Amino acid sequence: MSSQDQSQRWNTVDAYLAERLIGADAELDSALAANAAAGLPAIDVSPPQGKLLHLLARSIGARRILEVGALGGYSTIWLARALPEGGRLVTLELEQKHADVAAANLARAGLTERVDIRVGPALDTLPKLAAEAAGPFDLAFIDADKPNNANYFAWALKLARPGSLIIVDNVVRDGAIVDPAKAEDPGAIGARALFDAIAAEPRVTATAVQTVGSKGWDGFAIALVNG
Ligand code: SAH
Ligand code: DHB
Ligand code: MG
Repeated sequence: MSSQDQSQRWNTVDAYLAERLIGADAELDSALAANAAAGLPAIDVSPPQGKLLHLLARSIGARRILEVGALGGYSTIWLARALPEGGRLVTLELEQKHADVAAANLARAGLTERVDIRVGPALDTLPKLAAEAAGPFDLAFIDADKPNNANYFAWALKLARPGSLIIVDNVVRDGAIVDPAKAEDPGAIGARALFDAIAAEPRVTATAVQTVGSKGWDGFAIALVNG
């Protein structure tokens, strides 16, 4: 089977799973349409991945969620919907344009009150969150510029509590992390730096799982902050 046939099958299976387990969802569907209309890149998590984030947040009863990298707020909607009454999500986004699209998508989803979008480089905002005592966050989802993944992981840990989950997107990138030909790729270097940091960090218990689907071959790292 050619790799094109294979990724077509991944797409078809993802569409089937989404049809059976998610279905039409006016708010999520219109967020993706608004992102496309605004010219945002289609690099949001897939629907089944978004629902995985939602289920993880709900299973730990997350009341405070930190997201690094909002784009148009697709993953933000999935995560914010997991919050109970009074729960809050803070999402950090570099680009004002992305933040504006995300704000409109969140408003349509009725989530404006639960979500705080902070515009600017996340490494500038994270120390401010620490100074404001905005944490501890029960769950952090890291999905921004990949070269900073180890830095974001360090901040997420600083802003966590025992029992918090830290989830990092795009840690496999078509296998680039172990491909000698991609040794200079900034995303691959960022992912390896993240795994080095996790491997050296006794305060977490972590795994990573590879994923295939409509977003290609990639993976999530998931770290639980130990008690
Ligand atoms: N989590 C989103 C996708 C995020 S795409 C979803 O699944 O729906 C990555 C986002 O990170 C982009 O919007 C990009 O502008 C943002 N980003 C890149 N560098 C950043 C930085 N230094 N600080 C904050 N956000 C950044
Ligand atoms: C890219 C970023 C992402 O967060 C993602 O899920 C896929 C691709 C990118 O920058 O190419
Ligand atoms: Mg991503």
